[in-house]
Amino acid sequence: MAPQIDPERLLSDLKTLRSFGACGNGVVRQSFSDVDMAARRWLAERMVEAGLETRIDGVGNVIGRAPNDGRALLMGSHTDTQPRGGWLDGALGVIYALEAARALADDRASAHLPLDIASWMDEEGSYLGCLGSASFTETVGDDEIRRATNPDGRSVAAALDAVGLADEAPARLEPERHSAYLEAHIEQGPVLEAEGKRIGVVTSIVGVRTLTLAFSGQQNHAGTTPMALRRDAGDALIVLAAKLREALSALLAERTVFTIGRVVFDPGTDSIIPGRAEMSLQFRDSDEARLDRMAAAVHRLIEEANQAGPVRVELAESSKLEGAPMDRGLQDHLAAAAERHAPGAWIRMPSGAAHDAQIFARRIPSAMVFVPSIGGISHDFTEDTADADIVLGCQVLASAAAEILAGLNAS
Ligand code: GLV
Ligand code: MN
Ligand code: MN
Repeated sequence: MAPQIDPERLLSDLKTLRSFGACGNGVVRQSFSDVDMAARRWLAERMVEAGLETRIDGVGNVIGRAPNDGRALLMGSHTDTQPRGGWLDGALGVIYALEAARALADDRASAHLPLDIASWMDEEGSYLGCLGSASFTETVGDDEIRRATNPDGRSVAAALDAVGLADEAPARLEPERHSAYLEAHIEQGPVLEAEGKRIGVVTSIVGVRTLTLAFSGQQNHAGTTPMALRRDAGDALIVLAAKLREALSALLAERTVFTIGRVVFDPGTDSIIPGRAEMSLQFRDSDEARLDRMAAAVHRLIEEANQAGPVRVELAESSKLEGAPMDRGLQDHLAAAAERHAPGAWIRMPSGAAHDAQIFARRIPSAMVFVPSIGGISHDFTEDTADADIVLGCQVLASAAAEILAGLNAS
């Protein structure tokens, strides 16, 4: 018998977590905000109740360590959200981990197994994408993390100070204990729903490059400045954005995507020629070589724009997250659990969203499982998943966790 999750307890905890920062159907709970920290303290209390040794570490990660020795499985996701986020992005995987820990502890055959769980700080990158998992795995140095800033220019060091964590030590991956990482998440896309499936076993996670392009021209009067004499930063942005769209479109593979998610004109008013403008450009693919070719195309077009003038364009890399394949053995455990609880209703699929699991994959075998997103919508207040799918996904995860842990600790 697999450990049995408690559907009511699971749904009730998810709904309580949703209430921290609730905004209509969605949630606004950005890293280090008051509601984010209140949610972390609430989660820490649930972990203590579940019998876990619990701490909030020196970057805000909430970590519950099982009081069992042996080769541990680590499981988690994130509870911070996008500036206008959905209620399940990240939260689902964290509450699944909590429920899996409780189900294993209540199961005679699994109660001795070490399942450690966590909510990683700032996966959504208000300061630095996957900050908490990067700190835990030491794939980004403490100084770089502390220097990272949010769009208001506030540093992680200042945020830690404000929430009273400046003197806490960061928790670290323990290679002799933490033997594998599992994360569950909503799909955030349309594939499972379109295929009529209920579980996705993730094969790989995309790489993500995010660039900032800053345009400097001359702010001036919109009525008196002849067209030929303008140094219009906004106009230069629009022209270059169109050229970028054409060049990047020529480099797309089936799942390559690019997005201009942010455009700012300064001062941004009707009768002033913008003196400055800024845009973000993000592109994603699982093939790093393709991302390199896309980056080269961006560099070439910026060079051409600067040669042509009259507006200066500067490029900065805001973030670079490498893609990662998921561990085949762990995938097979998830697939076996999916087949057991939802025969024929699961598929293997890549992830187009970034996740903490791609950070863990650099250090230990890692894998992910998805449940469907209604209408394929995410990073939006309307994001949702059917209760029956939420319950099924958690049961699949708990069953797979018990099997993986039993295998890790078989002597
Ligand atoms: C994660 O939220 C992503 O943007 O992929
Ligand atoms: Mn997200
Ligand atoms: Mn997420």
